[in-house]
Amino acid sequence: MKRTLTTLLAAAACVAAFAQQPAPAADAAAPTPKTPAMQIDDLLSGAGAFFLATADGDQPKLRPLGAHHVVDGKVWLGVGEFKNVYRQLVANPKCEVVALQPEGGKWLRWTGRAAFAEGEEREKLEEIFLEAMPHLRKIYDKSPGKRMMCFTLADARAELIPLMPPGEVLLDETAAAAPAPRKALVACFSATGTTKGVAERLAAAIGADFFEIVPEKPYTAADRDWRNQESRSSVEMADRASRPAIAGAAPDLADYGTVYVGFPIWWYREPSIVDTFVEGNAAALAGKTVVPFATSGGSGMGDSAKNIQALAPDAKVAEGRRFRADATSDDLKTWADGF
Ligand SMILES: Cc1cc2nc3c(=O)[nH]c(=O)nc-3n(C[C@H](O)[C@H](O)[C@H](O)COP(=O)(O)O)c2cc1C
Repeated sequence: MKRTLTTLLAAAACVAAFAQQPAPAADAAAPTPKTPAMQIDDLLSGAGAFFLATADGDQPKLRPLGAHHVVDGKVWLGVGEFKNVYRQLVANPKCEVVALQPEGGKWLRWTGRAAFAEGEEREKLEEIFLEAMPHLRKIYDKSPGKRMMCFTLADARAELIPLMPPGEVLLDETAAAAPAPRKALVACFSATGTTKGVAERLAAAIGADFFEIVPEKPYTAADRDWRNQESRSSVEMADRASRPAIAGAAPDLADYGTVYVGFPIWWYREPSIVDTFVEGNAAALAGKTVVPFATSGGSGMGDSAKNIQALAPDAKVAEGRRFRADATSDDLKTWADGF
């Protein structure tokens, strides 16, 4: 441990020459609150040396740095144009800075995307860095390939983290054993898109997966003609054993805890193709909550829930609800959160 600390301190001493001068003291009479950039700058100064992590392909790389300046409200760091660190940041700008506070037992984690200064700003910053470290002018002589490349962290997040937060967890084997929260699936059949619109809003509102029950043979307008007793839908709906084929396979229902099943009301109940879906997945629906919902021309759910329960006897089938075509996401979410 002692050896590790000594090595770390040696690294800090090596880069101490890079550390910037402390900022002038603020006007004691009218202290202004420090911006996040000023706070980060203070923490970097307090640490003396800090560490910049980059990715070299799939290999993490860390190195100590010391130079930093607040210019135009941003904290800037500098790296040599000829160094691997610069090459890595250009290839993958994601990076992280860590600075350990010598006192107070806290450390800074500052994560973001390296955004290099360009044009006039680049010239200005390079000069600021070199003026603070004139001995480096021999190395960073501004000739091509030998420039000081200044960057800040864009889209950044900075955290000041206690070394020993209260209630630090040393061992927790229960988390791995706890079951993952069950996902929800919204499955829906829709002949003309009305129920599909509601179902998609519902899925988006509750963060559920969406699956459309698509008939192998689509229902044409003639097929859906409820006034014609000979139409496909009239024939199917008159035959309780009718099971129109579904195109493609249903998703694996194993991951889902709740399955919302949406459909248009046909002849005061769920269309036969919904029976195909429920019956065909009865085993997979065992133990799950199944929640029917529908749109219609005005009728309610009728016996839909009872019929679905009979086809999936081991599922917990809720009564369900009919929605208007313009049901809002809020209405749908409030309702769905009840299951
Ligand atoms: C064959 C058929 C039968 C229907 N039966 C009923 C019914 O019994 N009661 C009702 O209110 N609406 C009925 N409708 C109207 C639909 O339920 C309604 O238009 C629904 O919102 C359409 O949804 P979709 O666009 O998702 O298919 C029926 C429609 C069709 C095509």
